[in-house]
Amino acid sequence: MKLKVAVQKGGRLSEKSLALLRSCGIKVSNGGKLRSEATNFPLEVLYLRDDDIPQYVADGVADLGIVGENVVKEKKKAVEIAEALGFAKCRLSMAVQREIDYPGLDWFNGKKIATSYPNIVQKFLDEKGLTAEIEEISGSVEIAPSIGLADSVCDIVSTGSTLLANGLKEVETVDRSEAVLIQNMNLSAEKAELVEKLLFRIRAVNKADKFKYILLNAPNDSLDEITSLLPGMKSPTVLPLAKEGWSSLHSVVKEDEFWEVIDRLRSAGAEGILVCPIEKMVL
Ligand code: PRP
Ligand code: ZN
Repeated sequence: MKLKVAVQKGGRLSEKSLALLRSCGIKVSNGGKLRSEATNFPLEVLYLRDDDIPQYVADGVADLGIVGENVVKEKKKAVEIAEALGFAKCRLSMAVQREIDYPGLDWFNGKKIATSYPNIVQKFLDEKGLTAEIEEISGSVEIAPSIGLADSVCDIVSTGSTLLANGLKEVETVDRSEAVLIQNMNLSAEKAELVEKLLFRIRAVNKADKFKYILLNAPNDSLDEITSLLPGMKSPTVLPLAKEGWSSLHSVVKEDEFWEVIDRLRSAGAEGILVCPIEKMVL
């Protein structure tokens, strides 16, 4: 018995989805095939179009899927979101041709919007009290205005380079999205157990990503103050230095707090501060 995991074949999420599995210690190859088996975990990866992944997971063709939250919302299939994965963050935005002097949302009344996300766009229009026509297309949405197919588009924006390359500008954010792990709602107990095992690893990897390991030297009389700045997982490790009256302190610090903390540590007397990445973190 194997856990079948659907990932996007060739797209924004593909590489990072495989990288996540690999950082969970699962060896999978991607030799341009449509499926590949892990060698050291009962798991098989299926490479599919991202738009089809919710359907396949709902049907049980795949047990799990890694896909954009936006696709899950659009497809409205019976799947469960097991975990937000924190990568492939993007916006779903309305964009118009660069030359247009965009006056605000009313501009969309009576216009035609090309998108691969008709349900999400319709909901947005309804919420804003707008009436516009939706032209559903499955790919190359950004080309629609220049070939006269629509007045505007609603699509995923990540770096913005696709819009730029097509002479478009972003005018409204409709939604935000990131990669999520979805799961079939009727997994066998055996498979559910494997999913738990995988989730445990995913959480350890993602948690570690948010933290740094920090080591520093400090005079013993400033250890209390420094400990209050670096509470760590339980409390910091303190080791005596060979130099009389000094200690080495080891702890963890949140990635997004560490610049601020480092300034305060220095003013508290910390020296020789080292900050290192953490690979896995289990609390
Ligand atoms: C989206 C979107 C654009 C691109 C935008 O595609 O359709 O092509 O990403 O990214 P950028 O702002 O960095 O240029 P997605 O990855 O969802 O693939 P798909 O449309 O082929 O499913
Ligand atoms: Zn897609």
